[in-house]
This record gives sequence, structure tokens and C-alpha cells, in this order.
Amino acid sequence: IPVQPFDLVIFGATGDLARRKILPGLYRRMVAGQMPEDARVIGAARSNLTLKAFRTMIGEALETYIGKDKLDEEVRSKFLSILDYVTIDATGTSGWSELGKKLEKTSDHTRAFYLSVGPSLFGPIAARLQSTGIATSSSRIVVEKPLGHDLESARALNKQLSESFDETQIYRIDHYLGKETVQNLMAVRFANTLFEPLWNARHVDHVQITVSESIGVAGRGGYYDKSGAMRDMVQNHLMQLLCLTAMEPPARFDADRVRDEKLKVIRSLETVDIEDTVRGQYRAGPDGPSYVEDAENPDSRTESYVALKVEISNWRWTGTPFYLRTGKRLRAQLSEIAVVFKEPPHSIFPKLPAHQTNALIIRLQPDEGITLRMTIKEPGPGGMRLADVPLDMTFADALGPAAESMPDAYERLIMDVIRGDQTLFMRGDEVEAAWEWTDRILDDWSEKSEKPVAYDAGGSGPEDALGLMHRDGRRWRSIE
Ligand code: BG6
Repeated sequence: IPVQPFDLVIFGATGDLARRKILPGLYRRMVAGQMPEDARVIGAARSNLTLKAFRTMIGEALETYIGKDKLDEEVRSKFLSILDYVTIDATGTSGWSELGKKLEKTSDHTRAFYLSVGPSLFGPIAARLQSTGIATSSSRIVVEKPLGHDLESARALNKQLSESFDETQIYRIDHYLGKETVQNLMAVRFANTLFEPLWNARHVDHVQITVSESIGVAGRGGYYDKSGAMRDMVQNHLMQLLCLTAMEPPARFDADRVRDEKLKVIRSLETVDIEDTVRGQYRAGPDGPSYVEDAENPDSRTESYVALKVEISNWRWTGTPFYLRTGKRLRAQLSEIAVVFKEPPHSIFPKLPAHQTNALIIRLQPDEGITLRMTIKEPGPGGMRLADVPLDMTFADALGPAAESMPDAYERLIMDVIRGDQTLFMRGDEVEAAWEWTDRILDDWSEKSEKPVAYDAGGSGPEDALGLMHRDGRRWRSIE
């Protein structure tokens, strides 16, 4: 279904994110027939480029990030024809009136401004959009992490944005919320009757949330070394996954109802005891350098791995811990949420090993899908031998070719901006509450000032993280 006519202005349009994700995403929406005929995408950046040069740059980006052989020539040239470009000084005055003139021509279009720039420019650009009258009361502004470095800076950013835009106009992207399976988590929970009665501390033993990456930080050490896994991944992506897993059913699937429920989860999080945290940093392995080499900072104490045991103090979850882990340079790329159910209260069979309890696994990547682990009788005449088997549903199998054309996170989120649907975007208070909780852990760490523990590149994380589970008589699912 095409969306309404729009003008999307991308600040930082020559940057990495725009070329890698945003523009290829828009191209794919055009292939899918979702771009209205008179949509326009206006690149705005500091580089003094001609429109022709900008189009060439984006044409090349499409070849690199979509693949030359996968491009449809006709759509490609149509897509390039909707691009426009303006050289702009984000903190100065040049370029703004030209941008204003370009937009005047289509004043009936929905206007969205995507700030694909560093956070220090959010405030100045927002203010300029407002003071020049380029932004109207129905315009939308899109920003993305890092949305602050701690609570104080997050508050300052929110304040700057709110001086020029109303909260209903601000779209804070967490691209994990645009992932298909993340949304499916809500469908599984709230469109089925099967799981919700069991979705609580009475029946769920614990939840494991894993975002494991095989890549290191080479090439972006400058940013990463100042953030670390806690700020880069836990405060936002893992927090969102935790919220969607733990939240109460919202009364309706609309932006504020959903975000209210997520906020309640964040506010119910206990302060994490430092003993329940693990910070790790990868050392060199046979197939790659160490973190400090990748980050080009020999003294770095930044963590490239975090594991946490998190408790949610409310009626639904007290007594059911949520274990979170994320790290770089691990054995494989794997993101999943595993809801591990309790053992049967009484077993008529010889005791089952702990890992043979039921588990619902929502896999975000790779091979997006949902698996229910069940215990069944092993077929054959060998008596009552039990086996743990998966009831598997990968999207690729269930949906066939439709799965291949599933929009990626950015595509979906940008279209939601145009539609004016904020459900999958973070509200300002949510971001601040998440920082407040994260800051307490970061403060404890910096007070203790310990070096992160080392783990092998290409392995499954630090020993201490295994210990975090073992001491509770549990174990992580394997990363494969
Ligand atoms: C980004 C982080 O937000 O998410 C990166 O800054 C991380 O460090 C990336 O690699 C992971 O995203 P995805 O979609 O590849 O899981």
C-alpha cells in the first residue's frame, strides 16, 4: 500500500548510514510499489556536490549495498530521479533558504527530516528548521542513537528537540524495533491465547536475551571505545527486547499505549547488583586481533561484552530473572529471546535434565523464526525414553518468497514515519528511564574501576558469564 506523498530530507545524506541503510531501504520500498509517484528525497550535507554527483554517489551505494545484479535498472533510474540535493551548513546559514524553496513547491506533502548526523547537531538543526519555517506543525523529525551518553546528556538532547518539535513529531529510531521478529513477539504474545496465561513467574523459569555478533569493532573504534557494549547495545536494543518480552498487554496497539507499558517495565527494573554483571573484552584469537588493537587504544578498558542478571519487580515477574548478554567477536551472529519454562511440577518419568524443559525461542537473526522446544518420547521400541525436539517455524519456510521481500528494519521504520505511526519509536521518557537504570550500572563499574575480563575472540564469551548462570543452576543456550 503506497503511503501519502512526502518529501524526506536526509541530513548527512552522504554519510555511511544514509548510503548503507536509508537510501537502499527507500529504493526497496520503491521496488515494492510503496513509494508514491511524487515522493521526493532531498539529500542535505556539507559537501559541495552537484545533483548529478549526488545521484552518482547514491547509484553506487545501491550497487554496493543491494548488489549490482539485484538492481532493477528501471526502478534504479526512477529512484535516482526522485533524489535532490542541497549543500547545507547545519550550524550556519548557508543552504537553508535553498532547502526552503525546494520544499515550498510541494507544501501539501508530508515533510520528514531525518537527522543522520552526530547528536551534537540535533539541537542546532532542529532549531534552524523551526526558525526558518521549513518545519511545520505537521512535520516529523527522525533521530537515532546515540541518544545521549548518560541520563544527563539524554535529558539535554530531549530538551533541545522539544524546544522546536512536539513529542508527537519526534521519531527516535531503535532499529531493533523495526525487525520483523521483534514485532512478531507482540503478535505471538497478544494475538494467541496459548502463551499469555503462562507468561509469568509462575510458569517461566527465566528469560535469556542474547545479541551475539561475530564482527569486531575495527573501523569504528573511535565511537565504540567511548561507548562500550552497555551504551551501544544494552541501553537501547536489549532494553527494547526486554520491554517487549516483559510488558503487560497494552489496551490497544497504538503508540502511547505500547510505550506506556514499556516504560512501566523499565521503571520496575531493580538496580543490578555489581555481582550480577560481567564485563568482557576480547583478546586476540587465531583469526583476528584483540579489542585494543581494533580500537587502536592499547590502554582501553571499554567492554565489548556484557552479561547481566536483571530482576523485574512487579507481580508478573518477581522471581523470574532475565539474563541479558551481548558481545562482539563471538562465535556466531545470533540474536534471540528464549523464554524458558519451568519443569513440570511432578514428573512421572525419571527426572528430566534441566535443559529439557519447554522453551519458546524467538530468533531475530539469522533465519528469523520461532521455535518451541518440546519434550517427546523418542520413537522406537526402546521404552519410555524422552527427547527434546524443536517445533520449528522459520519465516522462510512458512512464508516462502514473501519472506524474502520482507522489509528490513529501516525501510519499515521510515515508512512508519511517513504514515505518522510512532508505535515502533522510543518516547523521550522511555529513553531517559533506560539511561537512569543503565547509569547506575555504569557508575558502579567506574567506581570499582576494574578491567574487563578477557575472552577469546571467536568463542562464546567470558567464563564469568557462564558462572552468572551456573550459580543459579541454569545455563546459557549455545551460540551457534
Ligand atoms: C548498532 C550498534 O546499533 O547495532 C552496532 O551500534 C551493532 O555496534 C548493531 O553492530 C547491530 O545491529 P544488527 O541489526 O546488525 O543486529
